[in-house]
Amino acid sequence: MDAPQRKTIVLFPLPFQGHINPMLQLANILHTHGFKITVIHAQYNSPNPSNHPHFTFIPIDEGFSKIADQAATNRDGTYFMRYLNESCVDPFRDCLAKLLLDDREMIACVISDVAFYFTQTVADELKLPRLALRTGSMGCVLAYDALPFHSNKTCFCLTKEDSDYEVSVPEYPLLKFKDIAKISINPQGMGDFATNMFNQMKASSGIIWNTFKELEESALETISQDYPTPSFTLGPFHKYFPASSTSLIEQDRTIISWLDKQPPKSVVYASFGSVAHITELEFQEVAHGLANVGLPFLWVVRPGMVIGSDWLESLPENFEERMGDRGRIVKWSPQQEVLAHPATGCFWTHNGWNSTLESICEGVPMICSPCFADQPVNARYVSDFWKIGVFLEDGFERMGIEMMIKRVMMDKEGDEIRERISCLKDKVNLSLDEGGSSFQSLNNLVDYISSF
Ligand code: UDX
Repeated sequence: MDAPQRKTIVLFPLPFQGHINPMLQLANILHTHGFKITVIHAQYNSPNPSNHPHFTFIPIDEGFSKIADQAATNRDGTYFMRYLNESCVDPFRDCLAKLLLDDREMIACVISDVAFYFTQTVADELKLPRLALRTGSMGCVLAYDALPFHSNKTCFCLTKEDSDYEVSVPEYPLLKFKDIAKISINPQGMGDFATNMFNQMKASSGIIWNTFKELEESALETISQDYPTPSFTLGPFHKYFPASSTSLIEQDRTIISWLDKQPPKSVVYASFGSVAHITELEFQEVAHGLANVGLPFLWVVRPGMVIGSDWLESLPENFEERMGDRGRIVKWSPQQEVLAHPATGCFWTHNGWNSTLESICEGVPMICSPCFADQPVNARYVSDFWKIGVFLEDGFERMGIEMMIKRVMMDKEGDEIRERISCLKDKVNLSLDEGGSSFQSLNNLVDYISSF
């Protein structure tokens, strides 16, 4: 008897590193569970098909490159999201319709990023089930749901001088007003974006979360009530396979041999993800902070990350010579391997959700410096809720940086943080083991997709 033919899942990632990584990791997981994978993707930040020869890649012309270079100067992320949700509609619909015309019977469903909220209407029109992939945390969905984006816009522009700046937000007391001021400079746009995203998550056939039950248990309870569609918590996706090949930028692997030479838990790893930008002044304060603390450090400076510089031009004079072999600066690192390396002692991070999860998985304490969007929410969970990191409040300033690094690397507080995050690391491993919560949720997801 012939083996049953493998059904295809069509994926559509948002074209940013922090969203492409989890989508392609999920693709690998589902591929090993018997599905064929077709990835429809934007031309901007196009994944490299040769890294995934077992998938089919179909680019669509979304025109995002026309506005992408505004990212360093335009701090309104909702502008880019709105653009994508408009420019992708026709090319995505045409592409999906063609795939269905060719082989409707063999296409099980589409899985698209929750931020591509328009895809629900397209999937409905074409009578194809859509699963929504939420690449961020559940806690952030609850926070966004609760925040008064539409009704109290003034609280999004408080400054240090305002008396409420340090006060908890009544609608979500884990957050302070100073945190929500960072989420977005455009509360109306953010509120519209969140409303569209959440409505279309509710309308979907199911939500896939890159998180695990034991980490976000109370949030999961609320989500199950607020979002009656089936939820699957099978994260962290990157733990299903050894370090992934989903990076869009070449990772500098020479640092692994440098890490090999450093004492255990001695290195400060600093990286602020794939989209955050900092000013020249902030960049210099980071450099002084890292230098002054006296520990070995590995610092990721993406070309273009410093506003107005190509790469390292605005480093303090003779910085690299003065640091010698104690400090390494790279354009992009193999981050998961760096975090898993025994020499890594702490992670100074912007708290993108992938970075946060990757740190938890390796039991590495965090220093939180969130920039925007979900990062301030993730950072509060890390420092104030799970207590597995410290919060570098109020920006980059050398004395504050030095103090935070010392708290984590040298003080008793650091040992306690390390103990708590090691506990979470153990829980991650249990959840992925046979019979664990993520393992079970993955089986449920595979059965669910097979039932379409
Ligand atoms: C974006 C948003 O900023 C983030 O808040 C959201 O949760 C996801 O989308 P990004 O800023 O890039 O993501 O951060 P993050 O989510 O941490 O993802 C970065 C990814 O790039 C991680 O998987 C990390 O391992 C990888 N990375 C980072 C590298 O491979 N090398 C590096 O040097 C730095």
